[in-house]
Amino acid sequence: MSILSLQSVTKEYVGDGQPVRALDGVTLEVNAGEFVALVGRSGCGKSTLLNLAGAMDFPTSGAVLLDGVATSTLDDARLTVLRREKVGFIFQSFQLLHTLTVFENVELPLLLAGKSGARAAAENRLATVELTGLGDRLPHQLSGGQMQRVAIARALIHSPAVLLADEPTGNLDSTTSAVILQLLQRLTREKNTATIMATHSLEAAALADAVVRLRDGKVEEIIRR
Ligand SMILES: Nc1ncnc2c1ncn2[C@@H]1O[C@H](COP(=O)(O)OP(=O)(O)O)[C@@H](O)[C@H]1O
Ligand SMILES: [Mg+2]
Repeated sequence: MSILSLQSVTKEYVGDGQPVRALDGVTLEVNAGEFVALVGRSGCGKSTLLNLAGAMDFPTSGAVLLDGVATSTLDDARLTVLRREKVGFIFQSFQLLHTLTVFENVELPLLLAGKSGARAAAENRLATVELTGLGDRLPHQLSGGQMQRVAIARALIHSPAVLLADEPTGNLDSTTSAVILQLLQRLTREKNTATIMATHSLEAAALADAVVRLRDGKVEEIIRR
């Protein structure tokens, strides 16, 4: 069974004017250990798909199954646990808390969940992203690539089954982007996560096991290697 399944997913945003159909009948299966690139021009629905995959939002129709569970069927308490334990998110803008140290940023999801052993877990994840020794720094004392590696370490803190990355190299130069992409590829293998990455970068798509091309909210093609 796939770890993430989108079944005929439609998503409409209802604002003041006409509803916007951001996803239109999307069906997609992603397996553990698979690195998927989500491509397509701005506005085609990439971020919407990631938000639905991470149970941050819900389909208007169809179903999103995370580890076999339909996200729309869960109450708030179960959703909180599902998001926390199954999903890690990485963003273009890193989303680190600037007044907290690297250690504290990485530990925070465990502390919020009331779990013990946060420092040891943070040290482990920082080693995984090759940032051992930088735990006491503040984010502004890091390069962009290092900040994104801290964000990846934080996303890994609960050992998620699914890693969702929304244009993770969008703020990085090409050399640093390549390092981050190789890291995501390695983590996908080593941790057997399913990694889904929205990207504009051809280099990024070239490293993926599958490229899903969206157009106007529809899957235009899926290329698997
Ligand atoms: N919260 C929202 N409310 C209304 N419309 C939205 C919202 N989020 C996204 N959209 C619209 O949905 C479509 C898909 O957006 P998005 O998923 O952000 O695309 P992408 O990430 O590929 O650029 C766009 O037309 C966008 O304007
Ligand atoms: Mg987007």
